[in-house]
Amino acid sequence: QQPALVDPFGRKVTYLRVSVTDRCDFRCLYCMAEDMTFLPKREVLSLEELDRLCSAFIDKGVRKLRLTGGEPLVRKNIISLIRSLSRHLESGALDELTLTTNGSQLARFAQDLAACGIKRVNVSLDTLNPAKFREITRWGDLAKVLDGIDAAVAAGLKVKINAVALKGFNEHDLHAMMEWAHGEGHDFTLIETMPLGEIDGERVDQYLPLDQVRRQLEQHFTLTPLPYKTGGPARYFGVAETGGRLGLITPLTHNFCEGCNRVRVTCTGQLFMCLGQEDNADLRAPLRASEGNELLSQAIEEAISRKPKGHDFVIDRDTKKPAVSRHMSVTGG
Ligand code: GTP
Ligand code: 5AD
Ligand code: SF4
Repeated sequence: QQPALVDPFGRKVTYLRVSVTDRCDFRCLYCMAEDMTFLPKREVLSLEELDRLCSAFIDKGVRKLRLTGGEPLVRKNIISLIRSLSRHLESGALDELTLTTNGSQLARFAQDLAACGIKRVNVSLDTLNPAKFREITRWGDLAKVLDGIDAAVAAGLKVKINAVALKGFNEHDLHAMMEWAHGEGHDFTLIETMPLGEIDGERVDQYLPLDQVRRQLEQHFTLTPLPYKTGGPARYFGVAETGGRLGLITPLTHNFCEGCNRVRVTCTGQLFMCLGQEDNADLRAPLRASEGNELLSQAIEEAISRKPKGHDFVIDRDTKKPAVSRHMSVTGG
């Protein structure tokens, strides 16, 4: 193994998020515009290239790998990539191989995922109301997602539910959603919406600060900070009344960049050193330039040496432009 990846602020990069496709079968209102154009196939890394890329990062000390999208399970033959990457779990090089998914294809893939050594998945779900679910995803079928979650549990996977807190959309449902998730035995995490890419609407109208949500929840529930850590950005709380775990991801109200351990790669092989910055490095060219990993390895190191300190997201009435122009579906969160 080569020396670990350390950024200019002394933070070790041990967590890689890889977007395996920019495509998604939903179009969540806060995530994409309805008329998204997706990348032509030739731009997108092949499964073999994705495997080489992930493996190069694992060689450099990455211990946690999360596949995202778009929707990772709509990528053709995704299971063959996951099966191949699972060799790093078996060798002990990787602590965790996991996915963030919208759940629409989970019923089909849960068994295969479990067979590849995946232990848990994060499922994005913003409402339990079928009509509102259709509205926020623009056409998604809630029943399919709930079936997918059940299939994941039946296959032995742990499920974490991720909900983006949205003013005027789910703000009054979060209490019930948390009770449902905990009742089903799932962790439940709330996310503050971030200004990534142009959407059909104003971010400021959707933005719901989680300190406000927390105060509302605390009128009914007893939240106790937990030492629980996953390597992700959430702060966790135990909820006495439900016996479950609540995570808060608060890039705006409680910045967590200081402890950042992650970078992300897009499906075209662009390495983004920060979710909230435009700077990126092309890894596709060095990947395609030679069979060996030397150029790739150099490009990764060079990029990490300029990982920025953090994001500078702001959401207010005066900020009309998104902080970064790309959509979340490019980097998968
Ligand atoms: P766990 O392994 O369960 O902790 O998951 P995770 O939080 O690392 O991954 P997940 O895909 O569930 O992330 C949820 C959301 O958190 C993402 O979609 C992003 O919206 C947000 N997020 C994750 N990492 C970062 C980050 O580094 N910076 C910011 N600003 N947001 C992040
Ligand atoms: N801000 C915060 N979270 C977002 N997601 C998508 N777009 C945004 C945004 N602008 C979430 C999805 C999913 C994860 C991949 O990112 O709901 O949970
Ligand atoms: Fe890391 Fe950037 Fe996310 Fe901050 S915003 S936690 S620096 S990726």
